[in-house]
Amino acid sequence: MILVFLGPPGAGKGTQAKLLSKEKGYVHISTGDLLREAVRKQTPLGKKAKEYMDRGELVPDELIIALIEEVFPEHGKVILDGFPRTVAQAKALDEMLKKRGLKVDYVFFFDAPDEVIVERLSGRRVDPETGEVYHVKFNPPPPGKKVVQREDDKPEVVRKRLAVYREQTAPLIDYYERKGILKKLDATKPIEEVYAEIKEVIGNGD
Ligand code: AP5
Repeated sequence: MILVFLGPPGAGKGTQAKLLSKEKGYVHISTGDLLREAVRKQTPLGKKAKEYMDRGELVPDELIIALIEEVFPEHGKVILDGFPRTVAQAKALDEMLKKRGLKVDYVFFFDAPDEVIVERLSGRRVDPETGEVYHVKFNPPPPGKKVVQREDDKPEVVRKRLAVYREQTAPLIDYYERKGILKKLDATKPIEEVYAEIKEVIGNGD
């Protein structure tokens, strides 16, 4: 089973992907997490990606596609979180999977209006060591836990990320709707309710 989690920044894609991979053994591929790790380790990819990420822009397609080719597992169930994000990435994914005799099974579209996004991103805090994600109001970190705010969760970068999402990523909704594999989720619901909806679509066995 190959799942794509698509939606605006902060809609809850990473939160749901972590739950599902923990409970059901999916391999969770988050291009955002992989890029942040590359930036931390100052790898050649990280050095190239950093300036785009800091500005809230997308990292160039060729770098991202090469990254996915490198990390995509030979076997097993996969969640692609935050990839694809452009039509070019979606087409490259289709081609890569076709060569392996695979295809995307479902694309979950996390639908949430801007005011929800802004509230979620401004309250998001992460554990810098484990990458664990919290929210000051909706999912508070345990007392005494050291957490930080992501650089790109500052208000001016959030505005840019939303604009980039609308322009470059939102067209994928149509792309996958036409393929008949798009599942729209009401991402404004609480974490457990969104999770239950996802499990209902993929079936309990998976
Ligand atoms: P990336 O890390 O992918 O950022 P994003 O898509 O903007 O997504 P987020 O991680 O911000 O949000 P999320 O939907 O996972 O929400 P979360 O679960 O954390 O990308 C960062 C950058 O990397 C990009 O800007 C770009 O530069 C680059 N990049 C990455 N992929 C790329 C690609 N394919 N191509 C090119 N460039 C790429 O939740 C948010 C908050 O809300 C948390 O605090 C959480 O606790 C809370 N929350 C979650 N669900 C709920 C709920 N149901 N109710 C209440 N609170 C909730």
